[in-house]
Amino acid sequence: MNPNRPAYLDIPPLQSASGTVVLPGSKSISNRVLLLAALCEGRTTLHDVLDSDDTRVMLAALPQIGCKVERDGNTVQIDGTAGHLPEACKQAQAPVKLFLGNAGTAMRPLTAALALLDGHFVLSGIPRMHERPIGDLVDGLRQLGAQIGYAGQEGYPPLQINPRSPALVGADGNLRISVRGDVSSQFLTALLLAAPLAGHTLTVEVQGELISKPYIGITLAMMQRFGVTVQRDAETGWQQFTVSAGSRYQSPGSLHVEADASSASYFIALGAIAANPAQKQQVVVQGLGTNSIQGDIAFIDAARSMGAEITATANSITIARGAWPLRAVDMDCNHIPDAAMTLAVMALYAEGTTTLRNIGSWRVKETDRIAAMATELRKLGATVEAGADFIRITPPADQQAWKQGSIQTYDDHRMAMCFALAAFNPAGLPVRIEDPACVDKTFPTYFPTLFGLTQAQTLDIPVLCIDGPSASGKGTLASTVAQQLGYHWLDSGALYRIAALAARRAGLAIDPANETAIAVLAATLPVRFATDELGGQQVWLGNDNVTSDIRTAEAGVDASKASVLPEVRKALLALQHSFRRAPGLVADGRDMGTVIFPDAQLKVFLTADAEERAQRRHKQLICQGFSANIDSLRADLQARDARDRNRAASPLLPAPDALLLDNSTLDVPASVQQVLAWWQDKQPVAPQR
Ligand code: DC
Repeated sequence: MNPNRPAYLDIPPLQSASGTVVLPGSKSISNRVLLLAALCEGRTTLHDVLDSDDTRVMLAALPQIGCKVERDGNTVQIDGTAGHLPEACKQAQAPVKLFLGNAGTAMRPLTAALALLDGHFVLSGIPRMHERPIGDLVDGLRQLGAQIGYAGQEGYPPLQINPRSPALVGADGNLRISVRGDVSSQFLTALLLAAPLAGHTLTVEVQGELISKPYIGITLAMMQRFGVTVQRDAETGWQQFTVSAGSRYQSPGSLHVEADASSASYFIALGAIAANPAQKQQVVVQGLGTNSIQGDIAFIDAARSMGAEITATANSITIARGAWPLRAVDMDCNHIPDAAMTLAVMALYAEGTTTLRNIGSWRVKETDRIAAMATELRKLGATVEAGADFIRITPPADQQAWKQGSIQTYDDHRMAMCFALAAFNPAGLPVRIEDPACVDKTFPTYFPTLFGLTQAQTLDIPVLCIDGPSASGKGTLASTVAQQLGYHWLDSGALYRIAALAARRAGLAIDPANETAIAVLAATLPVRFATDELGGQQVWLGNDNVTSDIRTAEAGVDASKASVLPEVRKALLALQHSFRRAPGLVADGRDMGTVIFPDAQLKVFLTADAEERAQRRHKQLICQGFSANIDSLRADLQARDARDRNRAASPLLPAPDALLLDNSTLDVPASVQQVLAWWQDKQPVAPQR
């Protein structure tokens, strides 16, 4: 696994939730319309496309089959191939190799489409993808003459696809195939999406009870948007599907992807658990509502039956707590398999036992979700019974019965997203989510979005302080540790630099005579920190990007002079405290551990010898395009150290309980590992296996 991928995220006990959220686009719709735009004739502009692991693998695959793809933020423009593989792809000696991660919504539909495009392909994914069944789809496609071989285990990816041989056409000139509907609805979706490429009228008959019907609804609706109508049997509409010969996908021009209804389930649950109407709290989900074509929109009804107070318009959903504790339910969840996982975590807050039935498909998803859910809910103190296709959950009997858990997520985004909601437990226990970056599959910004809507008690929010002299590497260390822990980062030195810059711009010399005037400016700094695309920190003062202005040698000297003024230090107090937000904070500076956050769980005092620091600062300035002289830098650092150490207000000193880290001979990863190891020792949540 990527060593930069955080090992865990500790969520402090959360108290309440309120606010408005705009969710990313639907995964199911995004991957369907990306493929449809690739197969159709003409150019399609898709708006609000989900940017996540699963859509990225689909987007990366399309140019490999001859589409022109341009992406600008969440807008994707695709020039389709009109259902033909370019000659160059057909003639190529080597097969086209497509890597599809763990995206079922890419693997299954691409298998079907490529099998009918008459080229040579190899489709593979991550190891879990090679454990997810695809045999029923392959069997269906073989009835159309498709030449598909298993490169690994029979019935599972990786697959080798070659040009098809003639299909067995019936006496009426039509093709008729059957496919199982009771393992994954994606098999039928894949066949339907590919049906216009079959060259004949194609009827697909479903064997067994079709599961997850709403996902077929999305497939039919999207095919319709691209000009292809699927005829359905008169009896139930779910047994037989026919696509006529001559059906061709036509670009709708442009199309907006609606917000993801499965992702909405976490925020609907959030409102049901934590938006207290007595305090006028509510959670509003925008970009999704009663007009949705996604089956998981029915989660609204499921959440209502557990007690949530929900009003929905065509385009928004407003949620607050209704019944509390929530009501236990006994529910058939076949129509909302993904969102039903959220109900399992809501069951922790219900009175009595909740049973979720008809969820056998959980066993073949990103992980065996029934087993995973049962194991992890038990860690929190719930009593869980699990069967082939059901789960029964009884919450911890009382506050004392809740246990602190380190939640394993099995590379399953939904496990991570659901279990974050356990942080509202009445026992006030933190919850550890292992491998939190697994949410990147469908919702890379899930945790910041969640924390943007939740409130925690200040003293419950952990703080890690890193203090030390100039150029000791605090900023790099603190920002990397913050990234690894999923915490916010406060670069307090930047605040002194910004205050000094604002004073300069207001025509004030950085001088004790102007102390009060500078303090007044500092108290109301319109400062904003943002992260750029490369993960670097951008600093804004009002509408000005001052990122490089505050990093010059003069700005450093000004900051040092401003920072000796007690009124200025006081004026920056509230701003610094405001960075202490869930899930936690890494703060670096000179007095983080001594003055600003004296109750911090861990205080690190970082040092490096002056020569080494001068070298580092020199390298840094040169890299940033500034000219620099090592001797004057060393002298400047020593003068600054003396001033920071000897000033009356908050002198630079290790807190009595600080751990000293001399990083003169350590590289950044080694320093980060040391601090993370110290942090781990201080944390109450230990992984349990
Ligand atoms: O870390 P830095 O070089 O960006 O800090 C700029 C100046 O601000 C530095 O001379 C010391 C001062 N400072 C401070 O007094 N207290 C802090 N918490 C952070 C910085």
